Amino acid sequence: MTNDTPMKLDSLWRGAHAATMKNGLYSVIENAAIGVVGGRIVWIGEEKDLPDYLTQQEQDLGGGWITPGLIDCHTHLVFGGNRAGEFEQRLNGVSYQEIAQQGGGIASSVKATRDASEAELIASAARRLKSLMADGVTTVEIKSGYGLSLDAELKMLRVAGQLGNDFPVTVKRTCLAAHAMPPEFKDKDDYIDYLCETLLPKAAKLGMADAVDAFCEGIAFSTEQVARYFKTAEFLGLPVKIHAEQLSSLGGTAMAASFKALSADHIEFIEESDVKAMAESGTVAVLLPGAFFTLKETQRPPIDLLRQYGVPMAVATDANPGTSPALSLRLMMNMSCTLFALTPEEALAGATIYAAKALGIADTHGSLEVGKVADFVCWEVESPGELSYWLGGDLLKTRVYQGEKK
Ligand code: NIG
Ligand code: FE
Repeated sequence: MTNDTPMKLDSLWRGAHAATMKNGLYSVIENAAIGVVGGRIVWIGEEKDLPDYLTQQEQDLGGGWITPGLIDCHTHLVFGGNRAGEFEQRLNGVSYQEIAQQGGGIASSVKATRDASEAELIASAARRLKSLMADGVTTVEIKSGYGLSLDAELKMLRVAGQLGNDFPVTVKRTCLAAHAMPPEFKDKDDYIDYLCETLLPKAAKLGMADAVDAFCEGIAFSTEQVARYFKTAEFLGLPVKIHAEQLSSLGGTAMAASFKALSADHIEFIEESDVKAMAESGTVAVLLPGAFFTLKETQRPPIDLLRQYGVPMAVATDANPGTSPALSLRLMMNMSCTLFALTPEEALAGATIYAAKALGIADTHGSLEVGKVADFVCWEVESPGELSYWLGGDLLKTRVYQGEKK
């Protein structure tokens, strides 16, 4: 670009420092400027190095720090009812597994979700989504998994898609039909057959899922059953993710890695061999401190091993009615530091660039770099570490979604 051909920008954003999160590090630019064309970043650097430009829209952010828009890569945001009653039961000593065995837990959310209309599901999820967005989220993954029949799973995925149309947020949809046993089925293998023969092919054909997820656990599905379901997903061209090693060690993580899973989530009980498998397959470790905290778990994910093998770590809310009624991704960043000993820099990488990787969108999202989508947030903070420091609060000054203040 020479001086006599000024770059033409849709908008130019300046007046704050930036933590770009390039390469998973703060990668700071002081007194940053960001030029946007067509919703993408076309220039980013120190304001003093800006070449000549022309724009109709120049925005002074007025101080603070810019980060990539936060990405919540694991949520169950769409569901009917809530499970505050079970929260009380658990406080009286009944375990999550016992509640599930008594027909509560996920099964009670399945009933409430099946009974709810699409409009009701949209309205209740919208309230939760607004909380996430007000705290900096610009991309959210939403799972099905409280429908467990073709109609009810597709209803959930449709609702998730509608939320993405109704709000300035990118929604990635994950089919979690292998979450629990629906009441119509007695045999787990029969249900997996139904998912492989009917439900997954239909969801894939309709283009209603970006990925496929399963709950691999004693109270859910075995490693062999999930592997069979993943084979179908692979055949349909859909990437996989897994809820694994949350309450026990069944080998789900290593199995998922053999399918080049985008992520293995929870993973409190993984061992060194699992970490090695994840490193080799490029699988992201998604840490869910909200569920760990709510279930009063004591076994922490092996953070040092994950670091040692260079496995990228993401942090997400797991927003769901049972184990993690969490509506702030920043609070999860704080808890990943306090409970799992991540650094604030790792926590921010986990809610931006590595969350993008866990969704398979790191080439377009998750960091502030030329060519990426212009999703970013300007925060009222003096350092990026403050994002993990405060427990809640309102730090967001300006939210920019696809290059526009929204
Ligand atoms: O990620 N682990 C399984 N699924 C959810 C919990 C869902 C529920 O209890 O409703 C989770 O923690
Ligand atoms: Fe989950």
